[in-house]
Order: sequence, then C-alpha cells, then structure tokens
Amino acid sequence: MNFQLTEEHLSIREAARKFTQDVLKKEVIERDRDMRHPTEELKQMSEMGFMGMMVDPKYGGTGLDTISYVLAMEEISKLDSSCSVAMSVNNSLVCWGLEKYGTEEQKQKYLVPLAKGEVWGAFALSEPEAGSDATSQRTIAEDKGDYYLLNGTKNWITNGGKASTYLVIAQTHPEKGHKGINVLIVEKGMPGFEIGAKEDKLGIRASDTHSLLFNDVKVPKENRIGDDGFGFTFAMKTLEGGRIGIAAQALGIAAGAYELALEYSKTRKAFGTEISNHQAIAFKLADMATEIEAARMLVYKAAWLKDNGQDYAVASAMAKYYASEVAMKTTIEAVQIHGGYGYVREYHVERLMRDAKITQIYEGTTEVQKIVISRAVLTGKA
Ligand code: CAA
Repeated sequence: MNFQLTEEHLSIREAARKFTQDVLKKEVIERDRDMRHPTEELKQMSEMGFMGMMVDPKYGGTGLDTISYVLAMEEISKLDSSCSVAMSVNNSLVCWGLEKYGTEEQKQKYLVPLAKGEVWGAFALSEPEAGSDATSQRTIAEDKGDYYLLNGTKNWITNGGKASTYLVIAQTHPEKGHKGINVLIVEKGMPGFEIGAKEDKLGIRASDTHSLLFNDVKVPKENRIGDDGFGFTFAMKTLEGGRIGIAAQALGIAAGAYELALEYSKTRKAFGTEISNHQAIAFKLADMATEIEAARMLVYKAAWLKDNGQDYAVASAMAKYYASEVAMKTTIEAVQIHGGYGYVREYHVERLMRDAKITQIYEGTTEVQKIVISRAVLTGKA
C-alpha cells in the first residue's frame, strides 16, 4: 500500500492551488452574490487543461489519472465550487462517457473540442419528476427511422446555458422500462431545443443551472451513444465516476472551511487568549481534521480503484456519501468558530456552508448512495 503522491500529482495540486488563490479568489464573493457565471475563469481553466483532464491526448485531453483530477477538484473546491462543478460535469460525465462509449466519429466531432475545453458539455438526466428515480424518464426519443424525435423537459442541468454539447437521456421504448432508455448527443441550436430559466440557488450560485426544453427536436440516429436501450446503463456507469468528482468537491469544501477556521482560530482572541487555546475550539479542529482525512482516504481510494481498472461503484458511493456529510458538518463548525464573522460573506465560510449542501443532493442524493451501498452490503458485494 502506497499513500505517497507522485511528483506529477504534487505539481498538479500546486498548479490548481495557485490558480485558485491567484485567479478564482479575486471575485468569488461577487460572482456568488450576483449569480455571475465564471466564464472567463473557466476559459482559463480550459486553457490549462482542466476540462479534459483524464481524456487521452489523442482526443485533445490532458491524459492524466483520476487521482490528478481529484487533487485539482479538491483545491478548486476549497474556494469555488461553481467552477469545480462545471469542471466535474465536463470531465466525469460528458468527456468520460463519450470516450468510453462513443464511436470514433462521435469522439472526433464532439469529444475533441470538449476535452480541449473549446466548448463545454452538459449531462441531462434529471427531470421535474425523475431525480433519484432515474428510471422514470418522461422525456421521449421517438424512433423515426434515421432520426429520433425528442420531446420533454430536463431540470437543474449544470452548464445548461453555457454548454454546446448535451448528453440527453430519454425513453424510446416505454414498454421496456429502463431497458428502453437511450442517450443522445444534442447540439445547442438544434431546432426545437430551448434553454429554460436560470435557477436562483442556495449555493454554487455562480454555476450555470438551467432547465432544458425539447420540442420536436430531430436528433440524427448517429448521435445515439451505444446500442438501442443502452442509455440507463450509460447513465449509471457515468455517474459512478461522476460521484468521485463530487466527492472530491465535497472534500475540498470541507478542507477549505477547515483551513480558514484553523487560521482564524490562531489569530482571533477571546477571554485573553487566541481562541485555538480554548479546548472547545481545539476539539472542533481535531474532529474536523480527522473526519476530513477519513473522507480524503475514501475519495483517493475510489480514484485509485478507477485508475487500476477495478470496480469502483460502491467505493464512489461511499466516498460521496461520507465526504458530503463531512463537508456539511465541517462548514457548519467553521461558521461557528468564526462567530459573527462567519455569518458574513467576506470570510468565505458561509458560502462554503451553502455550497456544501448541494454535494448531498446532486449526482445522487445521500439516500441514493445508501441504496447503492446497502444493496452491495446485503448481497455480499461490499
Ligand atoms: N452499472 C450498471 N448497471 C447498473 C448500475 C451500475 N452502476 N446500477 C444499476 N444498474 C442496472 C441494474 O443492474 C438494473 O439492470 P437489470 O434490470 O438488467 O438488472 C437496472 O440498472 C436498474 O437498476 P436498479 O433496479 O438498481 O434501479 P433503481 O430504480 O432501483 O435505481 C438508483 C437505482 C441507484 C437509485 C439509480 O436510479 C440512481 O443512481 N439514481 C440517482 C440518479 C442520479 O445520480 N442523478 C444525478 C443527475 S446528474 C447530476 O446531478 C449532474 C450535475 O448536475 C452535477
């Protein structure tokens, strides 16, 4: 067992840390307050190779491993989860799915620009009435011979307005249940495809979250990924890796809040001494440090399993479940340590607390992760 990061890992972590401090920090509070999309910041991240980190360089990617991706996600999420969620969706859900299951033509046409970060992607699974229950797709992709006729609505889609390429999950054969679902590559600008209103959210407020409306959109047959009926398996497999990205985001949020609380506790004085000298605060810091390290082990292990070609479905569910719990708990405690200062925007921890909540909801709620884990436990697979 080797817990050592390589020189390459350390330099990627450092690059992400520096970029976060030098570029993202500058207006992160204003972007969150005004729901202002970090378009320029994401363009810079694209140029740095953060949008297609794990994609083979022959398809325009950076060709790094999942550990590298997790390290970058962790650093960026210490401060700006609106940026890291855009990065996560592009990397884990869109690029990974296309590279793993797309045809050569689909890869050349769609993956290459996505991996280079020239355009961004979105993953459209959730619907007004199909969130956790992902098999109940109401969006219909009717088979019309050489094209699909797409009708329906998707909700809460990250990168929804800014993306150019959308992976849309839809039902083609309702009588077959989840075995009738397909995944289609839909381009922005296809007639009948409209972007709905931007969501006004509790956290990750600068991220671009929209509903998507499909009204008789003709999607060519060659834009289907995999065989007829492969869409649900595609979604589940893609989300297995997506959950590692969101677990890393949750880990970063927790670590970011902890670092701020630690620093603050060593400078802020009360009752005649720095508050870190009070056991009430010191013990909170001990709990935070321990729980964050435990979450980190789960996240890195899931990434390691993926990099080593082993099954990571349960590991990624455990990592996301635990890291998001730790993110919520740690950020609440970080606000508490900051006292009144923690409740105002300037000190960053209130934003991290708001951002933490979404990690318990998207890419499968905590309850969905527990379904995955408990089924594995009960069938002796974990
Ligand atoms: N890999 C391959 N196949 C899988 C699978 C996996 N990981 N998980 C399930 N399947 C298969 C099952 O084997 C089963 O196939 P058979 O019928 O052939 O045996 C089929 O899929 C149905 O599986 P279940 O019976 O387990 O399905 P279920 O209805 O009980 O639901 C679930 C399982 C885990 C709850 C699933 O629906 C789920 O993951 N829901 C959450 C969806 C989600 O994560 N949404 C996130 C949206 S994307 C997002 O949030 C992005 C963003 O903006 C940041």
